[in-house]
Amino acid sequence: TDHLSTQLPLKGKKVLITAGPTYEAIDPVRFIGNHSSGLMGFELAHQAATMGAQVALVSGPSKYETKHPNVVLHRVVSAQEMFDKTTALYNDTHIAICAAAVADYRPEKPATHKIKKDSDSLRIDLVKNPDILKTLGERKTNQFLVGFALETQNEEANAKGKLERKHLDAIVLNSMQDAGAGFGTPTNKIKFIDKNLTITAFELKTKADVALDILNEIIKRIYAS
Ligand code: CTP
Ligand code: CA
Repeated sequence: TDHLSTQLPLKGKKVLITAGPTYEAIDPVRFIGNHSSGLMGFELAHQAATMGAQVALVSGPSKYETKHPNVVLHRVVSAQEMFDKTTALYNDTHIAICAAAVADYRPEKPATHKIKKDSDSLRIDLVKNPDILKTLGERKTNQFLVGFALETQNEEANAKGKLERKHLDAIVLNSMQDAGAGFGTPTNKIKFIDKNLTITAFELKTKADVALDILNEIIKRIYAS
């Protein structure tokens, strides 16, 4: 069909992508974070833009930049900031892909001043962050909504559980079973699981090529029927 033969299969589509880690403040100089580099989300943004989409990229702290004129980068720090920016952009979106490694918890009450090492131990109380992807699922109108899952056990069952709980149209399962896949690597090995629970498995490849595979799977389903 037409969209597959054209060079710009996402022309006219607005794509919203979350990327990178989030940092949760402990005090003015310290945070809880994770090792996500943001690369997968930046590659998705770049490839979607190259396919003609207008892309909004909401990224936590990341060293990556984007020069593509079709990508608007919104830099955020905490999960709450990512939640606010992403939910604000969501209504005006055709495809949303949550690739960020959002911190599940944040310090309940960040200290106003740098914490001194006055005591021999320190406890920090944490509270749960809002689930951005789950909220997008609850607020879905016509968006095609895609999540990621990084699992270390019961991979497919856990990914399918997230797909259903968060009302997703598809989930990308990151395999941790291979060296070279996951956080901080230039490569990834994924399975794309759609809402019919059809699984498409891909080989280990660069994150740029993984981004292409993911977008092609989405495009097939958006233009189907
Ligand atoms: N996610 C999100 N907001 C959160 C937590 C997760 O948007 N507060 C998104 C991630 O971007 C990813 C998906 O939810 O697309 C799954 O994240 P993951 O950490 O694998 O699952 P969780 O739902 O957080 O559950 P758990 O960490 O307990 O496995
Ligand atoms: Ca999590």
